Amino acid sequence: MEKKKIVVSGIRPTGNIHLGNYFGAIRNFVRMQDEYQCYFFIADYHSLTTHPHPEHLRQNVKQILATYVACGMDPEKVAIYVQSDLPETAELYLILNMNVYLGELMRCTSFKEKAKQYWGQLRKELVEDLSSGEGQEEKAGKAEKEGNKAHVSAGLLTYPTLMAADILIHKADFVPVGKDQEQHLEMTRAFAHRFNSVYGVDCFGQPQAFNFGENLIKIPGLDGSGKMGKSESGNNAIFLTDEDAVIRKKIMRATTDSGPVEMNQQKPEAIANLFQLVRVLCGEEAFREFDAAYNRCDIRYGDMKKQLAEDTIKFVSPFRARIGEILSDDAFLEKIRRQGQEKARESAVRTVREVRGIIGF
Ligand code: TRP
Repeated sequence: MEKKKIVVSGIRPTGNIHLGNYFGAIRNFVRMQDEYQCYFFIADYHSLTTHPHPEHLRQNVKQILATYVACGMDPEKVAIYVQSDLPETAELYLILNMNVYLGELMRCTSFKEKAKQYWGQLRKELVEDLSSGEGQEEKAGKAEKEGNKAHVSAGLLTYPTLMAADILIHKADFVPVGKDQEQHLEMTRAFAHRFNSVYGVDCFGQPQAFNFGENLIKIPGLDGSGKMGKSESGNNAIFLTDEDAVIRKKIMRATTDSGPVEMNQQKPEAIANLFQLVRVLCGEEAFREFDAAYNRCDIRYGDMKKQLAEDTIKFVSPFRARIGEILSDDAFLEKIRRQGQEKARESAVRTVREVRGIIGF
């Protein structure tokens, strides 16, 4: 029998899973589980770059485990595991870092963006201190304190190395990730290639992004612009755990405008977004009806939102119930976690053993 191709992907345990995560990632993960050998993990090491509270971290990890299973991921087929349950990843990360260059890490877009936020904040605070007329010594002391608050950690800088370790530890062929992760994946290939050439071996392959093509459905947010999940408030996203009343409220409050003024006019972004949600959640037929009404200039957003809310509730509530059931069963959660860990360790231990041998440990 031909060996199945290997797929690896991770999700950071920050917050709840929303419809954007579901349609953009999880649903497609579930579809891959028969054809590929899949490793889907919860990136809790990665989440430490933002210093989550231990209790929140624990809760969020459980939440994602439960959600994965509630969404149809089969723990018998897929290795669903928690990154920190696989310390082999940390060893590979350390080893890879020895041949990763400071310059390439600093040029990584995601790092630059995060570092800019910290440094921008730090600079602002320093300027405020200067204009408040404090003495040099006070200023220096304060700068040090503020500096601690607004640090840029080595963990943030080496985030791409850790991601490479996640992927290479299972010698993945494919990595299903969004566009925002493509640069990280490119770096993974560079690190893999570098390890091979430093040691003159053919240990790691070149993992490729897995693009779902036609199947990739974009889910916009409710606040008029951009993707679901981008805003801080949470009102932009529908979570798989949202209660019916919450879903209704969020959708009824979604951004609209005062309506079309010309027949067949182009839809502004906020309206196009709402229509996209209708298409996904209410179906093609409902979409066409509302679209025709829009084109005739007699659309009633209120009616459309009502239908969208009811269909969204129909879609979400079984997930919410299932997630709740799983979350209340600690023994079951623990069982799938260990099952995933065992599967993942098999391949991780194999890779680390090989790498140690190559290095001369
Ligand atoms: N960096 C990814 C994100 O922010 C999460 C992630 C960590 C990941 N390790 C990975 C994704 C390995 C795919 C493969 O979304």
